[in-house]
Amino acid sequence: MTRLLITGASGLLGLNLALSAWEQHTVIGVDRCKLSGVPFELVCADLLEPGEVDHILDASRPDWLIHCAALADLEACEADPSLARRLNADLPGDLAAGCLNRGIRLVHLSTDSVFDGKKDGVYTESDLPNPPGVYSATKLQGEQNVLSADPDAIIARVNFFGWSLSGTRSLSEYFFNNLSEGRQCNGFTDIWFCPMFVGDLAETLVRMLEKSLSGLYHVVGSEALTKYDFGVRLARQFGYDERQVLPISVEESGLKARRSHNLRLSVHKLSTCLGEALPAFSTGLEKFYTQYTQGYPQKMRSYQQI
Ligand SMILES: NC(=O)c1ccc[n+]([C@@H]2O[C@H](COP(=O)([O-])OP(=O)(O)OC[C@H]3O[C@@H](n4cnc5c(N)ncnc54)[C@H](OP(=O)(O)O)[C@@H]3O)[C@@H](O)[C@H]2O)c1
Repeated sequence: MTRLLITGASGLLGLNLALSAWEQHTVIGVDRCKLSGVPFELVCADLLEPGEVDHILDASRPDWLIHCAALADLEACEADPSLARRLNADLPGDLAAGCLNRGIRLVHLSTDSVFDGKKDGVYTESDLPNPPGVYSATKLQGEQNVLSADPDAIIARVNFFGWSLSGTRSLSEYFFNNLSEGRQCNGFTDIWFCPMFVGDLAETLVRMLEKSLSGLYHVVGSEALTKYDFGVRLARQFGYDERQVLPISVEESGLKARRSHNLRLSVHKLSTCLGEALPAFSTGLEKFYTQYTQGYPQKMRSYQQI
């Protein structure tokens, strides 16, 4: 079985990915001692500690590394740019160099938000990024550091939704938690994005490795919608009153970190390389709902170390 190392194993993507991959692959997850009782192997480590990257790569001897650890909270990045730079820019470069030396295939996770959103249309991989804030600037630097250390690495610019360890990490959980408690919640009508169900993303990343792809790819959903529409579609899927989702502009939200208004990304390059269309948003939303009916959110939370 292929040995798959996953950093950020307690995170939204890392945990879903590890849970989807462990039956087909030998999964080793790196977390900061937050998880317990998971069906895959765990290494507890702070990736910013000196020597930790080399130690983990030598001890776990993976064939593939999917690097999901990051400072992915936009507001936290604005509050601590130095930590954002170390985690989102420097660490990926160190990991890429470590992977190249050991013949490990690397997938590095980046973000749709490297673009400023000013384009009138859909962004392709050849469009020039212009990051609007600390998070996106450090993520872009991370892409560059990875590709200069290991040109054969995969850089995946993503945006995704799903159930998380804390139950509060994702946009889908924000809407679900408010709707299910009967509360009103805000949906931005002026931010367009292409969300992908995290289970579909996990399978797509593994397929990209199986197909030996390399370089930069947009790995997002094939449908663009506003954050408001996302909330409304989720309300309908779960049978909640969609009028609880209030249409507002992001400018009225009080959020500090600047956000791009247009994050519509083309997935043409990836679907051509994979030889198939990427899953539709509606089927991803149905899978998210099915997980709910099967108790997946509770299962996720049960992995939290007490
Ligand atoms: N969520 C999205 O829609 C989205 C959109 C665009 C791009 N992305 C990118 O996708 C990737 C995964 O995002 P996510 O939403 O899954 O992130 P997340 O839920 O915030 O998870 C981040 C993970 O990184 C770990 N981590 C942070 N600092 C660490 C350190 N010093 N040592 C070891 N682990 C550390 C965290 O561990 P703790 O749990 O211990 O803090 C956590 O497991 C990131 O690269 C992010 O930038 C996400």
